[in-house]
Amino acid sequence: MKPSVLVTRRIFDDVVARLRASCDVETNDTDDLWSPDELRRRLQGKAGVFVTGTERIDGALLDTCPALRAICSMAVGYNNIDVPACTARGVLVSNAPDVLTETTADLGFALMMAAARRVSEGERFLRRGEWTRWSVDLLVGSDVHGATLGILGMGRIGQAVARRGARGFDMPVVYHNRSRLDAAIEAELGARYVSKDELLRTADHVVIVVPYNAGSHHLVGAAELALMKRTATLTNIARGGLVDDAALAAALRERRIAAAGLDVFEGEPEVHPDLLRVPNVVLTPHIASASTQTRRAMTQLACDNLLATLGFGRHAGKPPNVLNPDALKNSR
Ligand code: DGY
Repeated sequence: MKPSVLVTRRIFDDVVARLRASCDVETNDTDDLWSPDELRRRLQGKAGVFVTGTERIDGALLDTCPALRAICSMAVGYNNIDVPACTARGVLVSNAPDVLTETTADLGFALMMAAARRVSEGERFLRRGEWTRWSVDLLVGSDVHGATLGILGMGRIGQAVARRGARGFDMPVVYHNRSRLDAAIEAELGARYVSKDELLRTADHVVIVVPYNAGSHHLVGAAELALMKRTATLTNIARGGLVDDAALAAALRERRIAAAGLDVFEGEPEVHPDLLRVPNVVLTPHIASASTQTRRAMTQLACDNLLATLGFGRHAGKPPNVLNPDALKNSR
């Protein structure tokens, strides 16, 4: 008998067809997030589930889904999944790293540049019909090339942002991370390890690429914003909740920092109303990984992980991106 799996969002037909070759598949063919009750109901009897970065998976849910063995996310960030709770119940969890690194770094750079050079403000100004003459200081921003790039969180995506800055834009790079990188990687990226406070004080453009968890909640709030240069920009391509959005909106409104670029928000898809009111922030709807090629690669990788966890394909029994191999010790 084929194992039953659930796909919680509309994805690509050919990826679903790959799953159907080995599994009985129930899909959500819409872009609507199921309520927790609906998700619980649909998970009954399912051996595996394909999720995105938004479905909340916790111990209480797992306790009501005893057949579940595999949770496979197409996102790299997995703060929506209680991994220790999955491990304790013998449920393997996988994410989808690497395939989105460069695409996500591209958008980080785009947001940083758009914030620094006031691209969105300029476009809105033009569309409003206010561009009637040239002036010497019309929408002047700050340079990106040669400016100091500060990266909070120097994992794969942070390093990809650093490479763009160091190699493409001659930017001195400073970074802060839980652990320091090997000297060889620092040398390759031209990156210098500094404390978080020094980074905030010295960087011209700060980019946040830190995983979200209870310890990184409001990593940048009023106190951290107060350390930044008045001319600096702040970009967040990681997760909502890393930045205190209300404090950021106040800093932007009072011009205590120059501008920001945000792809992620606390409580998204809601956006703090104060952020919508300030002109000097570029806002995008969590699309950092959204190139056609990368979204396809993310779904294929999650599908590989799901099939492998359920014992199919060339990685059978060894999902390439398992986050909690210890779960096997607690198999149910
Ligand atoms: C990720 O993969 O974590 C991206 O933020 C998309 O959800």
